[in-house]
Amino acid sequence: MELTVRTSKSYKIMIERGCIKQIGARAAKLFRPGAKVLIVSDTNVLPLYGAQVTDALTGSGFSCFQFAFPAGELSKRFSTIESIYGVLAENRFTRSDFIVALGGGVTGDMAGFAAATFLRGIRFIQIPTTLLAQVDSSVGGKTGVDLPQGKNLVGAFHQPALVLIDPDTLSTLPLRYFSDGMGEVIKYGCIKSRALFDLVQSSDIQNDMENIIFCCVDIKRQVVEQDEFDTGERMLLNFGHTFGHALEKLYHFERLSHGEAVAIGMVMMAKYGEAAGITLPGTADEIITVLKKYHLPLEDETSLERIVATTALDKKSSGESISLVLLNEIGSSFVKKLTRRELASFCGVTL
Ligand SMILES: NC(=O)c1ccc[n+]([C@@H]2O[C@H](COP(=O)([O-])OP(=O)(O)OC[C@H]3O[C@@H](n4cnc5c(N)ncnc54)[C@H](O)[C@@H]3O)[C@@H](O)[C@H]2O)c1
Ligand SMILES: [Zn+2]
Repeated sequence: MELTVRTSKSYKIMIERGCIKQIGARAAKLFRPGAKVLIVSDTNVLPLYGAQVTDALTGSGFSCFQFAFPAGELSKRFSTIESIYGVLAENRFTRSDFIVALGGGVTGDMAGFAAATFLRGIRFIQIPTTLLAQVDSSVGGKTGVDLPQGKNLVGAFHQPALVLIDPDTLSTLPLRYFSDGMGEVIKYGCIKSRALFDLVQSSDIQNDMENIIFCCVDIKRQVVEQDEFDTGERMLLNFGHTFGHALEKLYHFERLSHGEAVAIGMVMMAKYGEAAGITLPGTADEIITVLKKYHLPLEDETSLERIVATTALDKKSSGESISLVLLNEIGSSFVKKLTRRELASFCGVTL
């Protein structure tokens, strides 16, 4: 299956079991013969898939270099970016050479950021290997790096030249990371597609994975095409994230994974939406049923006052607003802008 994303630069996304082996042939259509390529990966993923990717690229005549950083979010920092720049500079990479990001969202965000900035921009290919990266972070062109003061505080919009999604790579992914990605998959169903939601609810996940990933990527494609630089429609992707982010922060990014926090945030939004007469009654229960199937949490003991007090104000707005994503029903969503005080009264608490 293949999709084309039509943003400032258009690119293809291929979703196919085993497609990782086609990286050489696919790259040969985009880059000059003999170009240099740096495979950026982490210490878990490079031993699993590095050889296949390297062999395929070398077989198509590219000159391959590898760089692996210690796996985990803690590596998503400038010292790692500097090391990537070092390898590129020492090996005299030029603008006609390229980077391949082989790994999860941490790898994609950093390899993408290095590509966006080295020589003011070289091209890169995404080969996402976590479910979260396959359905979310590898599509849309957001790249970035964390600062000690906060996550993703520095970054750039830089669209990839190609995205190769091989669902077979998920076979080695630890279960908790798989569930984490399912949180985002369920989110796509909630905001845009009753059909996807039903598929996720009823499916035998192993057999339907390619199809499910395709549906998610297609939704993200549509949203990103309408709002490449994140000023409106793209906010819908934040369903469950307003309270989810607050919970992640309250637990210092340690107790809850991103998908787990989003799962709890989605249930909360559906419940408050129902109580306010905005969301179709029964929606929260439907979300709970599907979250249970994928071993995701449904609630948290943190007080609502603390959660509301921790919600971040919109990055882009100079005012005091919070953009809350609410559901009319499964598959239909909209953004409601509120002040923190309005959000508190919407949830029935006083700050
Ligand atoms: N750019 C965006 O639009 C966007 C969107 C969402 C999230 N993100 C970012 O993505 C990051 C999280 O991504 P993630 O959850 O993929 O984290 P990750 O890249 O750290 O991967 C999670 C873990 O799985 C391991 N792994 C990856 N693929 C594997 C495989 N196939 N088999 C075995 N192990 C494998 C990794 O080594 C790591 O230990 C965060 O930094 C977040 O900010 C970016
Ligand atoms: Zn998310």
